[in-house]
Amino acid sequence: MIYKYCFRPLLFLKDAEETHEQTLAFLSRVDFLAPILEPFFSVSDSRLQVGIGPLHFPNPVGLAGGFDKNGKAIKIWPAFGFGFIEIGAVTALAQPGNPKPRLIRLPKDHALINRLGFNNEGAEAIGAHLGAMLGNGGRLKIPLGINIGRSKVVKTEDAAADYLFTFERLYSFGDFFTLNVSSPNTPNLRDLQEKNLLKDLLAAIQTKNQELAEKERSGRKPIFVKVDPDMEISQLDQVIDVLESRQVTGIIATNATAFLREKLTAGIDEPGGLSGKPLRERATSFIRHIYQATRGRLPIIGVGGIFTAEDAYEKIKAGATAVQILTGFVYEGPCAVKRINRGLLRLMERDGFKNISEVVGSEARN
Ligand SMILES: Cc1cc2nc3c(=O)[nH]c(=O)nc-3n(C[C@H](O)[C@H](O)[C@H](O)COP(=O)(O)O)c2cc1C
Repeated sequence: MIYKYCFRPLLFLKDAEETHEQTLAFLSRVDFLAPILEPFFSVSDSRLQVGIGPLHFPNPVGLAGGFDKNGKAIKIWPAFGFGFIEIGAVTALAQPGNPKPRLIRLPKDHALINRLGFNNEGAEAIGAHLGAMLGNGGRLKIPLGINIGRSKVVKTEDAAADYLFTFERLYSFGDFFTLNVSSPNTPNLRDLQEKNLLKDLLAAIQTKNQELAEKERSGRKPIFVKVDPDMEISQLDQVIDVLESRQVTGIIATNATAFLREKLTAGIDEPGGLSGKPLRERATSFIRHIYQATRGRLPIIGVGGIFTAEDAYEKIKAGATAVQILTGFVYEGPCAVKRINRGLLRLMERDGFKNISEVVGSEARN
C-alpha cells in the first residue's frame, strides 16, 4: 500500500529506464542491509518449498530475467523474499542495446513495453563482477540463474559459439542457465527456436556442460530454454520434443509478446515486448499445453503477467513448478513476493493442498 500510493507515483514521474537504473544502483549500494530487510519481506514455510532437478527453491516465486541484467544487486534479492533469481540476459559481447526511449510504462494496462535489446556489460565484465561479489565458489542463499542471449552482431549460424562463450565464462557462478532464444528485440533471435537450430544449440551446450562438469568434478548444470508466447502450438510441440530429446532440465514459459496489442486500452502500438497483465492468459495457456503434452515430465517455470497470489496459483495449477515475476514487481513493489507467497499458503489451505508441489498441474490434469 505504501509503495503503491506513496513511492510508486514518485518513481513513475521519471523516465522508466532511468528510474530502473537508479533503483538498481541504490539497491546494490545497500545490499549490506539484506539481513535486516529479510524478516520484513520474506515468508519462510516448508509447504512452499519446491525442487526442479538438483535445484531447491525455498519458495516458488523467482525474479525473471531482464530486471538485473548485469547482476548488480544479486545480494539483495533474497531479502525481498524471492525463492530464486535470474540475472541477464548476458551476451558474449558487451552491447549498448537499442536507442532510447526503449522502456515504456502502460499503467492503465498494468503492462510494460520494452525494446532494450540486451543492453549489458558482456560476459567478461559480468564474470569479473560475479567473481568479486561471490568469491571463489561462493553462493547466494537462493539459486542464481544466468540468462544467456545472443550478441546482436553475431549471425544465426554462429550463435552456438556465442552462447558457449558466455556459458563457459559464467559456468562456475550459475546454479542454472537459461538459453534465451525468445526475446523479440534481437533481430532473428527467435529463429533459434526452429527444431534443427535448437537441437544443434542444445547439443553444443550439453557437450560443453559435460566437459565443464568433469573439470569441476560436479554434476552438469541445469539448463532451461525460454520460449516466446507468439509461436504456433505446432511449433511449441516441436520445441518440446527437442527439449526432451536433449535432456533439458526445464522450460521457461514465456517471454514477452511481440503481439497482443489489441489487449491494450491505451491505444499504444510501440514496437517491443509487451509484458504484464495483457500477457497473463496467453502465458498460462502455453504452460497448460506444455504440461499436458509432456504429462508433467518437463518441469515448467511459468512467467507472464503475475501480480497476485491468484495469478501465481493459476500458473502452478496449469502446470508450472515455479513462477517468475518482473512487471508485477515493478507495479506492486518490494512487498510483492511476500504477498504472493502468503496468498499461496491461504489458497492452498482453502483447497486442501498440503504443499505447493501437490498444486502443480492439478487443474491441467482434469
Ligand atoms: C524491462 C524488461 C526486460 C527484459 N529482459 C529480458 C531478458 O533480458 N531476458 C529474458 O529472458 N527476458 C527478459 N524479459 C522478459 C521477462 O523476463 C518476462 O519473461 C516477461 O516480462 C513476462 O513476465 P512479466 O509479465 O512478469 O513481466 C524482460 C522484460 C522486461 C519488462
